[in-house]
Amino acid sequence: MSPVCALVVLVLLMAGGWCPCAADVGDFAPCLQFFYRSWPPKGLSGTPICQRYYNQYRFATLYSRARRSPWFSAYLYSPPEGKRPSASWKFEPQLAYPGADGNMICFPPGPVDQNVVDSQAVELDYINSTYTRGHLNPSLHHQSHEDRTATFTLTNAVPQKVGSNDGPWEALEQTVNQTLAAYCLGDAYIVTGIIPYQTAERWLKNHRVAVPEYIWSAYCCPVYNSSLPEELKDAFPTYAAVGRNDRNSTQEIVPVSETAKKKYRGYDVRQMPLEKLEMYLRDRFGTVVSVFYERCSGSD
Ligand SMILES: *[C@@H]1O[C@H](CO)[C@@H](O)[C@H](O)[C@H]1NC(C)=O
Ligand SMILES: *[C@@H]1O[C@H](CO)[C@@H](O)[C@H](O)[C@H]1NC(C)=O
Ligand SMILES: *[C@@H]1O[C@H](CO)[C@@H](O)[C@H](O)[C@H]1NC(C)=O
Ligand SMILES: *[C@@H]1O[C@H](CO)[C@@H](O)[C@H](O)[C@H]1NC(C)=O
Repeated sequence: MSPVCALVVLVLLMAGGWCPCAADVGDFAPCLQFFYRSWPPKGLSGTPICQRYYNQYRFATLYSRARRSPWFSAYLYSPPEGKRPSASWKFEPQLAYPGADGNMICFPPGPVDQNVVDSQAVELDYINSTYTRGHLNPSLHHQSHEDRTATFTLTNAVPQKVGSNDGPWEALEQTVNQTLAAYCLGDAYIVTGIIPYQTAERWLKNHRVAVPEYIWSAYCCPVYNSSLPEELKDAFPTYAAVGRNDRNSTQEIVPVSETAKKKYRGYDVRQMPLEKLEMYLRDRFGTVVSVFYERCSGSD
């Protein structure tokens, strides 16, 4: 257990493990600031989580109890500083105990409480599986150490192939960082989510945590520098991308480049307009999905 985690556990124990503001699960109301115009994406249903760490809201997640993994995480981008923290993974006590304190907690070194195991993914689900813990909200898109550390909760992670996580998907996160750092002049709202398999869900080894077929991401930056270089003309105010998480997927949504390095081949990321992403989401979820209020048009 890292010293940071030990401290958090201590604070929670001193607080009696209970706090009057325990409604961090089931309602986005306390954390609407992470959504453009306080408007969470429409069309997807799940359990809202206002992700709290050190008594501050850090981001928001729409969680699926059945999949034990998120549909999406939504956050505000801030230019990163320093190195990625070597943070310990955490869980959400209030998914297991409705009255529990809303702050995320590090996994204990020993056995995990059965209500926690039942309600969410635990470290053992990922150990010796063929998937990594893929952040939806990445630590790379945050400035403060606490905001970065807070991304290491398993309710913000999905099973992601290493060829995607260390390859094209990471490259996308870097590109988004550079684009927003250089040309976004106001707040940048990012939503990153998953597309499930159409038929026959895949699961991590114990049939507990569902594996996504694709990962998608979109940002909304309504106030930007309009002297954009040619290659970024379509990147504002909004932009989206879909990444493959399965080499064997068909090529309709994201084509495969044959020239990629072998280890990354089949994990391509395709950048596309928000409208296109929403079209693929509608096709797969069978309902209209809207990621940003008025598609981030900025109009009133
Ligand atoms: C993971 O696999 C290794 C090697 O097969 C084994 O020694 C270890 O016990 C496994 N760990 C878990 C948690 O299953
Ligand atoms: C994010 O982008 C900024 C601006 O280009 C750059 O200085 C910084 O190194 C990038 N951070 C990471 C972690 O790549
Ligand atoms: C906008 O971008 C141009 C060209 O990259 C740069 O010269 C200018 O300083 C930027 N303006 C702002 C307000 O960042
Ligand atoms: C992809 O197909 C190959 C060959 O059929 C198989 O060995 C592999 O397990 C499949 N990968 C996934 C992620 O399903």
